[in-house]
Order: sequence, then C-alpha cells, then structure tokens
Amino acid sequence: MARESTGTSEQQVQPIRIFDTTLRDGEQCPGASLNRKEKIEIARALEALGVDIIEAGFPIASPDDFEAVQEIAGIIRRCSVAGLARCMEKDIQRAGEAVRRAEKPRVHVFCATSEIHRKHKLKRAEEEIIKMSVDGVKLARTFVEDVEFSPEDASRTELPFLAEVVSAVIEAGASTVNIPDTVGYSIPTEYAAMIRYLVEHVPNIHKAVISAHCHNDLGLAVANSLAAIEAGARQIECTINGLGERAGNAALEEIVMALKTRQARLPYSTNIDTRKIYAISHLVASLTGIQPQPNKAIVGKNAFAHESGIHQHGMMQNAATYEIMNPLDVGIPASKLVLGKHSGRHALRQRLEQLGYQLDDQQLTEAFERFKGLADKKKEIFDEDIISIVDDMSRTVSKVWEIDSVQTTAGTGVIPTATVRMRNLQDGTLLQDAATGDGPVDAAYSAIQRITGITVRLRDYKLNAITSGKDAQGEVTIEVESDSKRIRGRGVSTDIIEASAMALVDAINRIIATAEQQQKTESQGVTL
Ligand code: KIV
Ligand code: ZN
Repeated sequence: MARESTGTSEQQVQPIRIFDTTLRDGEQCPGASLNRKEKIEIARALEALGVDIIEAGFPIASPDDFEAVQEIAGIIRRCSVAGLARCMEKDIQRAGEAVRRAEKPRVHVFCATSEIHRKHKLKRAEEEIIKMSVDGVKLARTFVEDVEFSPEDASRTELPFLAEVVSAVIEAGASTVNIPDTVGYSIPTEYAAMIRYLVEHVPNIHKAVISAHCHNDLGLAVANSLAAIEAGARQIECTINGLGERAGNAALEEIVMALKTRQARLPYSTNIDTRKIYAISHLVASLTGIQPQPNKAIVGKNAFAHESGIHQHGMMQNAATYEIMNPLDVGIPASKLVLGKHSGRHALRQRLEQLGYQLDDQQLTEAFERFKGLADKKKEIFDEDIISIVDDMSRTVSKVWEIDSVQTTAGTGVIPTATVRMRNLQDGTLLQDAATGDGPVDAAYSAIQRITGITVRLRDYKLNAITSGKDAQGEVTIEVESDSKRIRGRGVSTDIIEASAMALVDAINRIIATAEQQQKTESQGVTL
C-alpha cells in the first residue's frame, strides 16, 4: 500500500510525550463515571498502549477518587502516574499522598490565570495568582520531584502575564508547564503563536517541557495540539475517544495516528503501540457507555468503511487510492470471520492477542467459558463478539443480582407481560415476579424492579447490533436515574429482551455497589 514515506532520514525525529487524562478530564464527561475496578482496568490498558503519563484522577474530589489514584499508583510501573490538585494545601497533600507509591509519581497543580477567572472565580489580583501558583508548586515539590503546572484558561490569558506565571513556576520547580485551552476557544495559528511566544519570552523555558491541553468546543482540539507540537510543545494531553468535559478533549488516537501517518511532514514520534488503539477505544466506550460517533476518525464504526461504488472499485485496485492508513495499524483485524463452536482455548487466546488484548489464565478461562456459551447460540463468532465478551468481563461489578430466566408475551391485541426469575447471589435465593407494561421490555423492567426493590427512572435506552446477520448479538446500553445519580448498564445477548433485562440488572448491581462503597467510606470517617 502506498502510504506517505517516512522521509525522515535527514530530519531528526523528536519524541512527544503522551499524557493521557481519560481517567481525570475524560471522566468529567457527563455520565462517564467509572468505578475503581474499571479505572484500574483502563489504567492497565493505557500502560500496555504505551502512554508516558496517566493522569489517574483528582484525589481531593472524593475518597473514591483518592483511593483509585492510590491503587493505580501502586499497580502501574511503566508510566508516570499523576494526581491533579488546585493550588491549595489540602489538595496538594491529598494528591501527593495518592501518588506516593508510584514508580514515577507526578503532582499536577493548576491555577486559573485569565482575567475572567481572576476577577470572577478566584477574585485575586495578578500578584496573588503568581504567589498561589509558586507556593503550590513548591509545596508539591515537597512530595514529588516531578511537578507539572497548568495556568487554567491560558489561551484567554494576557500573554505577558502568562509568561510571567510560567517563568515563576519553573523557577519554583515545575518541570512541565501545561498550557490549557480550557474552553476550546483557540484556533491553531493562535495557539501555536502562544506557545512560540512562551518559547521566546520565558527566559528559563528550556528547564521545562511545554505541554498542550486542548478542549474540543470548536472541533479544533487535535488541530491545536498538532500546531502546538510544531511550535515547540513536547507533551500532549489527550483522552481515548476524545472523551472529556463538554465537547471533550483532544483524542489520543487522532493525534498519534496523525503523527504516524504524516511523519514526513511531522517528524515526531510517540511510544504508543498503535495496534492497541482499537481495543482500548472499545474498552473505554464499553466501560463509560459512551460510544464514539460512527464517523469518528480512527475508531468510529465507519472510519474504514467504503460505501460508494467508485471508492470500492478503487480500493480493489489499490487500497491506497482511498485509504491513508492501514486498518491493521490501529488494531482493526484484516479478516472479520473468526472462530466457531469447535475452536479451542488456544485459538481464542491467539485471536484475542491479535485484537490487542492480553488476558491472564484466569481471565482467559472466563472468556473461553463465555465464548463457548455464545457459540452454542450463534454459529459464527465475529471479532466484535469476542471484543464484546472481554468488554463485558471488564464491566463486571460485584454482582448481587443475576437473571435466571425471562419470559415475555407480547403482540397485537395482548397486554405485554413478563415473568422474570432472578437469583440473589448473596443468599442464593431465587425470586420470581410477573408484571405488565407498555411493551415486553417495560414489563420485564417492572418485574425486575419489584424483585430487587430498587426503583429507577429510565433516561436512555440504546439497542445496537454487534455484528450483522440474523443471529447477531444485540447490545443494549441504558442510563437510569436513582437518587439523582445517573448510572449506566449494559447487556449483550442474541435475544434483545434478555439483553435489555441484563442491562437493567447491570445498572442495579452498580447502584448497590456504589451505595456500599459510599457507606464504607463514610464509616471509615474519611473527611476532606
Ligand atoms: O482544561 C483545563 O484547563 C484542565 C486543567 C485542570 C489542566 O483540565
Ligand atoms: Zn481540561
């Protein structure tokens, strides 16, 4: 395939650090909240992907955030693990404590610098902002060597003042200065000019790495990040699938693939194993319940699909006519149809590895059992089915309830009725109830709520076919509200009523797990 030649023989390829903030800024995305086990799962996948720094959370935000950062710091060995803190003593202490066990701990402190934030949010004068920032960095340095500083809303800050702050925090001991486009307001030429201004006007800038952190409110986060690299930034802050506040953050996969695909024009390298992109994108989508839109670059369902006849014809002659990247490079497997009923454990392991998943023996045993169960119901097992099995395993919370059976009657002229039998895994009891509803799913949902004693409001319901074909599995993702909290649930089955019931039971198990966790932290008397 004729892709762009690297053309790098005479140019020096410069390394770019990838700072992933899926677990912090990404998790601030509405409805994307993750439990501790899920955060750890993502952190491990990020480590395997090859990111340089994992921002694992905002430890002061909640006891659960603190514990998640602490646990990730204890597990991850190859990447730096960062905790975010405002320039406040209790924040910094908490972040310093949370990352203490990391092989490479980092504390990331931030303070808003733009006029609008100074006047209306912090109500502080310029000199006070500088003092807070310097004191924050100095305090963070008493916990860790590696301190990053971010002037929040940098892109709307007066340039001379921004340069003053950046110089002061470097002097105080910050080794990375991150320049956030907090509200996604910048355009590429402007953002690059700001980075260049800092390179030219901050006398000690050579003592720190410049970082870019771009939000996507105008759809320019990736373009701004690439412009920043050309202007001198050597760290990029980004998230998987571009997850994040409002319109999200710069998407890791887009930045990395732009650098890889356009190496001749952009002579920069990252440590990312791009063949693991597809798997981690799936994992994050499944755990957060937020699927990338179909036309999302690199990881969207249609990113490598060619519909038009002219394009298909061109592709058959030479794939490079309409494809600038090789799908294999992002981990999209070449052949789609894979395993069947008679495939063994070894074949499953091999295919999982080809798809970018590394499972230990226990996980493989579980995946194999689920695979066999599915192969009994479905003749052809596609890659998407296998990915769904692994995603489902990652989502598992400590279960209290499990569906034993669901039977429904529905149709023209009948009142939709569901009979549901459920097992309580804590005491082993089997409970059954029947209910009617607007349709079979509604009836099943009423019965499940009666059995579990947990009432929810259904806020969102999505049904998606995982593969094509009449025996395709249906994936149901729902969002429910309980006690003013939004919780997601997911269920996958060849029977869509069963998948719907499983999604609600998943959400209910999560509600129970969250309440238990809350009770535990309250009884431990953790106060902030
Ligand atoms: O967008 C932003 O300004 C941030 C900072 C905390 C780095 O996320
Ligand atoms: Zn941000």
